[in-house]
Amino acid sequence: TRDGEHGLRTPIVAVLGHVDHGKTSLLDKIRGSTVIEGEAGAITQHIGATAIPLDVVSKVAGSLIDPSDFDLPGLLFIDTPGHHSFTTLRSRGGALADIAILVVDVNDGFQPQTLEAINILKQSQTPFVVAANKIDTVPGWKPNEDAPIQQTKEAQSDRASSMLDEKLYEVIGELSDEGFTADMYWRVQDFRGNIGVVPVSAETGEGIPDLLTVLMGLAQRYMKEDMAIDVTGPGAGTVLEVKEEKGFGTTLDVVLYDGTIREDETIVVGGMDDPIVTDVRAILKPRPLAEIRTEDRFEKVEEIAAASGVKIAAPELDRAMAGAPVRVVRDRDIEEVIAEVRAELSEIEVETQEQGVVVKADTLGSLEAIANAMDEAEIPVMRAEVGDVAPRDISVASTANEDKHKTILAFNVDLLADAEQRAEESDVKLFESGVIYRLIEEYEEYVEELER
Ligand code: GTP
Ligand code: MG
Repeated sequence: TRDGEHGLRTPIVAVLGHVDHGKTSLLDKIRGSTVIEGEAGAITQHIGATAIPLDVVSKVAGSLIDPSDFDLPGLLFIDTPGHHSFTTLRSRGGALADIAILVVDVNDGFQPQTLEAINILKQSQTPFVVAANKIDTVPGWKPNEDAPIQQTKEAQSDRASSMLDEKLYEVIGELSDEGFTADMYWRVQDFRGNIGVVPVSAETGEGIPDLLTVLMGLAQRYMKEDMAIDVTGPGAGTVLEVKEEKGFGTTLDVVLYDGTIREDETIVVGGMDDPIVTDVRAILKPRPLAEIRTEDRFEKVEEIAAASGVKIAAPELDRAMAGAPVRVVRDRDIEEVIAEVRAELSEIEVETQEQGVVVKADTLGSLEAIANAMDEAEIPVMRAEVGDVAPRDISVASTANEDKHKTILAFNVDLLADAEQRAEESDVKLFESGVIYRLIEEYEEYVEELER
């Protein structure tokens, strides 16, 4: 048996930022593919994972990287649509992402979702770098395809170069307003205490060699110990999404951060009521350099190792929850594994009151983040659940004694068609947003109006 073999896993990098600031384009440029062109309205519909092996990283980074300085296998990027909440996903009590790239459009600066991402990065203490994107839009900019930033900056006119500096200092100022010491990345010595700003263009590829170099260096320098895992041990992961898949029924999109998972193995998954125990029917792996969301590019594999994005097909997954833990049982006591999953779920459980509002969220982690924010705002919660808004939620909300509690706060979830009708017929008020603090602000405004 190969069990007990130690090795280094790929660091998980979350790509975050406000809608349209260029997350997908950036990954796309790195990948050299054209996923964006196939996207409906160029908006990322699902969370995707992309593995970039070290040799590709070093090819893109060119002279900035000497691959022999690294022993980590590469980087696993998770793209998140502006309206999603990857930042809130967890692994064994910590953040699922080892590092994050916060993408900021240099023309737009910080926007609501930038701030939301910053708040969650702060809370989870996830190290991050800022990619100040779209530098090619600086008036008078003369692009040098795929060039390192200092090289292309020196080739610009004084006017263009100082205009870029102006924009970058605005971003640095905004970071400082949020309590971070930040500077241009080449001036940062300690990336744990300071935030490095990397000017990039997802359009022209300028600065991308720098971005990859910084990420790889950050991971290698500060995270190597965390990357040391039992590469052949029983797998552990986090559910990204629970999805219906033609020919497979309900499937799980999972980020595997530890060990391996094999076909036919028994797994335990966090469910809405109780942990689900089931057997893996198929493991579907995105092809190298492909995205987990382009399903037709899946291949069936017998085994997969961390870190990777993978789709798991198994029976009885209907009540699985996004954000919940997944564990491979293998040669362990199944009851112990169930207890482990249960313990992890109870860490995230949200405190509820007799009277209060109903909260629905897309993942367990976002539910927890909202619950914390509600607690701070002193808004009582009667029920908090992962999932779309269903007719049952309207019924529950309508039983509240006070009008201000006859409300549902929905974060990143859909309203089921029959729920929409039920809400219209009832006196239940629905608030929807992809930004937590907005949701709370809107609710507070509503309560103020009621009490006026
Ligand atoms: P969501 O997934 O919707 O949150 O957006 P996103 O952050 O993934 O943005 P996306 O990559 O889809 O880019 C949004 C738009 O900005 C697209 O039209 C891109 O072509 C454009 N864009 C992205 N990066 C750059 C850049 O560096 N320069 C220029 N000029 N345009 C860019
Ligand atoms: Mg996108």
